[in-house]
Amino acid sequence: MVRVVRLALIGFGTVGRSLTKLVALKNKLIEEKYGVRLSIIAVADSGGAVVKEDGLTPYELLRLCELPRSAVSTFTPYGLPGAGVREIYSRVVPDIHVEATPSNYVDGEPGVSNVLYALESGAHVVSCNKAPFVLRFRDVMDSASRKGVKVRFKATVMAGTPLIDLLMSLKGYEIEGLEGILNGTTNFILTEMHENLVTYEEALKKAQLMGIAESNPDLDVKGWDPAAKLVIISNVLGMPMKLGDVVRDDLSRLDVREVFRAVKEGSVFKFIAALDLREGRASVKLTKVPRGNVFASITGTLNAVRIRTDVNEITIVGKGAGGSETAHSVLDDVITVAQEVGS
Ligand code: HSE
Repeated sequence: MVRVVRLALIGFGTVGRSLTKLVALKNKLIEEKYGVRLSIIAVADSGGAVVKEDGLTPYELLRLCELPRSAVSTFTPYGLPGAGVREIYSRVVPDIHVEATPSNYVDGEPGVSNVLYALESGAHVVSCNKAPFVLRFRDVMDSASRKGVKVRFKATVMAGTPLIDLLMSLKGYEIEGLEGILNGTTNFILTEMHENLVTYEEALKKAQLMGIAESNPDLDVKGWDPAAKLVIISNVLGMPMKLGDVVRDDLSRLDVREVFRAVKEGSVFKFIAALDLREGRASVKLTKVPRGNVFASITGTLNAVRIRTDVNEITIVGKGAGGSETAHSVLDDVITVAQEVGS
């Protein structure tokens, strides 16, 4: 028997649109494989929302993706200009709330309020917005357990590469720490600077055109994004750290001449994020690694993390940014929640 699972998608930028297309195009396959039909009943952006109680059709979803930014509320006859999460929930309560608004580490908004409101309303939550899990991890988890609902957020770290799932599966190991490349934008910038000797500004522009940078690219280049990911990981591993505890370098200060010197001496600049659980320390540092080092071969938007445990080292490599990769990871979480709660 096929079960209908109703989704509200909050945030309609690069990831939100990729996810919408995925649902439109992959729903049949998902239904056949997992017995679940995903029905998007609400979509919101910063200008308002679209609400259709019996679910937007694949054709409507694809048309929605053709609208400019912040314009979903112009979608007639279902558009609601100015409507936010509260207005949506006063009309329909989804089974799963998908939070795809941009991460904001100043006050966490709108992600923190949206996620807490959804949980208090009894919706399960899947998020690729990192802020609620960086700034309010305990509150989010407590609210979810009080309401008996699920929260999943694997797309917040390494986008399409399942590091969070892997870490959660290592139940018999003592994880001592990890290090690696946790930001696709800066790794892309460093690769461009290293391989093509372009300036930092040119490389950043290219990353922005590819849609991999945060809406505010300072979050990437000043290390906030990889630092935020370290904080999420520390919470997942039960040793919570605060964003302010993570020591960060600023990549925008890197001059292409320094990169050139590194090339000549056989080394490569990498933005290395490191978490030492035994010492309770975390950092994101611009580091020169020798060309033979494993992280030197991680180029473009690839990410890589080496997990150190009491018995071994495990390295995981994969795309760490990108609308499609992140959307697939969100979709995985949506399907997992749908399966976990279904019966
Ligand atoms: N801006 C982020 C990055 C997106 O470049 O890694 C994925 O978190």
